[in-house]
Amino acid sequence: MAERKPIIAIDGPAGAGKSTIAKSLARQLGYLFINTGAMYRAVAWKVLQQGISLADAERIGNIAEDSLIELTGTVDALRVLIDGRDITEDIVTPEISQAASQVSAISAVRRALVARQQEMGQAGGVVMEGRDIGTKVFPHAELKIYLDATSDARAARRFAEDSARGIAVASLAQMKAEIEERDQRDKTRADSPLVQAEDAVYVDSSALSIAEVVAKLMRLVSQKVAS
Ligand code: DC
Repeated sequence: MAERKPIIAIDGPAGAGKSTIAKSLARQLGYLFINTGAMYRAVAWKVLQQGISLADAERIGNIAEDSLIELTGTVDALRVLIDGRDITEDIVTPEISQAASQVSAISAVRRALVARQQEMGQAGGVVMEGRDIGTKVFPHAELKIYLDATSDARAARRFAEDSARGIAVASLAQMKAEIEERDQRDKTRADSPLVQAEDAVYVDSSALSIAEVVAKLMRLVSQKVAS
């Protein structure tokens, strides 16, 4: 087998800081950053765009198989395209967050997207984040992180992020309820639920700054990966 560069898998619930942290690691290491949640969001966007019911697993599975989903650009200016259309700004809404969580429970969707994620990351030199990276997509990743935080901390972060982006959010309490609903679905679905891999390092980011989490992970990288 050809030598491949290391794979760093970051899993955890919504709002734990996975994307921000994964981007920072990728930048510092010169690795590729792959945000797998964006792929589930792209499928959800197309499903809603076409007026397909979120209960229609068969048609949604076909959409995941037949659509061209591309993650392009640089770590700091990532673009998400579906069938050539740039939907980067359209997939960050609360509606798409919930719909992405729903379509991600469909096995045919997971099969299609996991296969592409494995292709995208197979050469290594990648920081990939999602819900099942260390358990399903790359169970032999050199470093696995399970990044967690309390739902209060995660809701507060998402609330601040969405407000800054100009996305209408009803209240902090509603944000927390939405995050908990998504957690519940993502953790209890039958196919590849969100769970900490046995060999993942658990990091609770509730009381840590981004810089502190990044520093902690960079130490783990030098201990486990670079050695
Ligand atoms: O990371 P995110 O919030 O953008 O992900 C959106 C949804 O996609 C999430 O609620 C569950 C699903 N997802 C998944 O099932 N597996 C992944 N590897 C990434 C995301």
